[in-house]
Amino acid sequence: MIRSRIAGIGHFVPERVVKNAELEMYMETSDEWIQERTGIKERRFGERHKQTSTTLGAKAAIAAIADAGIEKDEVDFIIFATLSPDYYFPGCGVLLQRELGITKTEIGALDIRNQCSGFIYGLSVADQFIKSGMYKNILLVGAEMHSMGLDFTTRGRGVSVIFGDGAGAVILQASKDDEKGILTTKLHSNGTHAEELALINPGSHGGYHGEKEKYGFKEDSPFGGVFVTEKMYEDALFYPYMNGQLVFKNAVRKFPEVIVEALTSEGLRTTDIDLLIPHQANLRISQFVQKTLGLEDHQVKNNIQKYGNTTAASIPIALSEAKEEGSVKDGDLICLAAFGSGFTWGSALIRW
Ligand code: COA
Repeated sequence: MIRSRIAGIGHFVPERVVKNAELEMYMETSDEWIQERTGIKERRFGERHKQTSTTLGAKAAIAAIADAGIEKDEVDFIIFATLSPDYYFPGCGVLLQRELGITKTEIGALDIRNQCSGFIYGLSVADQFIKSGMYKNILLVGAEMHSMGLDFTTRGRGVSVIFGDGAGAVILQASKDDEKGILTTKLHSNGTHAEELALINPGSHGGYHGEKEKYGFKEDSPFGGVFVTEKMYEDALFYPYMNGQLVFKNAVRKFPEVIVEALTSEGLRTTDIDLLIPHQANLRISQFVQKTLGLEDHQVKNNIQKYGNTTAASIPIALSEAKEEGSVKDGDLICLAAFGSGFTWGSALIRW
């Protein structure tokens, strides 16, 4: 049986460290509030006009390609997960291809729009392509340049203090040992609460999903003012919105559920997990999940304290760091899990 494995991994975070105290300069917040509610002490912000989700992703990709011991031209498919793309379209996949200088081979590039669970969705897609024999070296990147699109006023403090910039990347290949590699991936979604963690505008919705008034859509405007309205500018309705408590409640239920689902399908138990890498949504969520599953501290990797929530990048950054620290060893059972906007959630089990 062919399995796919992570043959190379790398990550990159921008140099600029933004401590909670710096955010106090832009909005009414406090280091104490942020640490108590989220566990975050600092995050990284990229350099405006010089770094983007694509360029951060490219740095991580170069590290992953080197770690896999391949040449960049051997990459035969790109998957890019982000919620802070350089452009509305085209996606970051083709921009990354250009940034890496691998346009000559004209390989395919796919963009994944699954926010916090984007990396797990990407991993699952890559896994199927490798198992089917369609591709040999898939480059999967999760990267975010959140700092370009957050509201750094008191109005946006519930969201903006949580997010940070960064990127992680892996190279997926077929495993020579059929006991090792990705054992399973589980993917789920429920669109009931789509708008409860979302960046609504601009978009083609035209108020269809409700709240025409809120966004300032006029029935009699045939062309102009239906994608970006004056009201969106006036009320700053183009920043991300999050119903934090609803996200929290769903996350602490769905994380354990999807982890147990993956373990059960492989005949494994929580005690078999050597390292759980949860999407770094919020330290309180990770601690809740750890407690629910009865895991020890050394079995769970958290680094949100240093980087904040880097959405699609958080799992590959944490996995890459864990590997560097020596906490991912040959034969270990690694569990990845994520929950976020959509809502979408998922898990992956890897025998390293
Ligand atoms: N600094 C200071 N005060 C803040 C603040 C900030 N950065 N953000 C919000 N507040 C205030 C609110 O205005 C509110 O004030 P009020 O009581 O006077 O109205 C108060 O703090 C409580 O706000 P609330 O939103 O109820 O806080 P909370 O306890 O739910 O914590 C989160 C907010 C976001 C930390 C919490 O809901 C959470 O962790 N949710 C999960 C979100 C998540 O993980 N998202 C990642 C995407 S996967």
